[in-house]
Amino acid sequence: MAPEHALLDLQPTPERIRADIVEGLSQVPKRLPSKYFYDAEGSRLFEQITRQPEYTLTRVELALLEAVLPDVAAAVGPGLRVVEYGSGSGRKTELLLAGLHDPVAYTPVEISRSALTASVERLQAQFPGIEMLPVLADFTGSIELPAPVRDVRDVLVFFPGSTLGNFTHAQSVELLQGMRALLGHDGRALLGFDLDKAPAKVEAAYNDAAGITAAFTLNLLTRLNREIGADFDPDGFAHRAVYARERMCIETSLVSRRVQTVHVAGHAFAFAEGEAMAVEISQKYTRDSVATLARQAGLCLDRWWTDPDEGFALGLLAPA
Ligand code: AVI
Repeated sequence: MAPEHALLDLQPTPERIRADIVEGLSQVPKRLPSKYFYDAEGSRLFEQITRQPEYTLTRVELALLEAVLPDVAAAVGPGLRVVEYGSGSGRKTELLLAGLHDPVAYTPVEISRSALTASVERLQAQFPGIEMLPVLADFTGSIELPAPVRDVRDVLVFFPGSTLGNFTHAQSVELLQGMRALLGHDGRALLGFDLDKAPAKVEAAYNDAAGITAAFTLNLLTRLNREIGADFDPDGFAHRAVYARERMCIETSLVSRRVQTVHVAGHAFAFAEGEAMAVEISQKYTRDSVATLARQAGLCLDRWWTDPDEGFALGLLAPA
């Protein structure tokens, strides 16, 4: 990255993380925020998840994006600043930036410094004509976009991977409202949505045979031990992911294998044997559920594309 692309550093402090964890563990049932999955090791494990045979989301979304890109580019027009929520999706970003007509600037908003730096360096080499303006931040907060040198006609927010599904309904509405604020009158947001399908297929994606998803979930405990001095025993918890079809939601927990006490920031948290600590949700969608969600955030569903098996969709949202 050139000096003018100096990284604006808004990464959460250990105090912030500690406060979030103590708050989550004080609830009934106990919970840990999944946004802290993505330290360097968590980002590496997530990349590995995307290559597991059971986790088809990433491959299907990539193929779908490739197939519909000419339609997307025509729908959004030239001269855009692309704002991506997260930056772990480098291959999708490459496709998008290559397929759009003369994009002006690219702003990934990402909480993991290692993921952000790696993706921006790679993209800058590949797209020297696009100004890279990364922001190291939690994209659930308000985002201040650094100003590009060239004029921008409009904003395209890119939020692939069905990552919206890792937020509760209320948080999703809030996130989309934040997105809506970046779009102005004529901006667009392109989002990936994993669709509701046979429960066995959904569950397999979050319980891969190689155990990578389990390692990914448990890595959160290792991170908290290292960064905020917690004393979780990662061997004392088991990964569990279940599809609640009535809510179209994968609910992932870490289940205590035995009676144990965990200490965080001077607080002691007692776990019963078999007690489940909620760590992640992965919401699945239908076209109707996306349209409803969009409406609640002042947006409308402008275009909708799915793969031939209707397992995954790309939705283009516009200000309502
Ligand atoms: C990033 N996000 C969309 C993934 C998902 O499918 O919910 C995270 C993940 N968790 C377990 N496997 C993948």
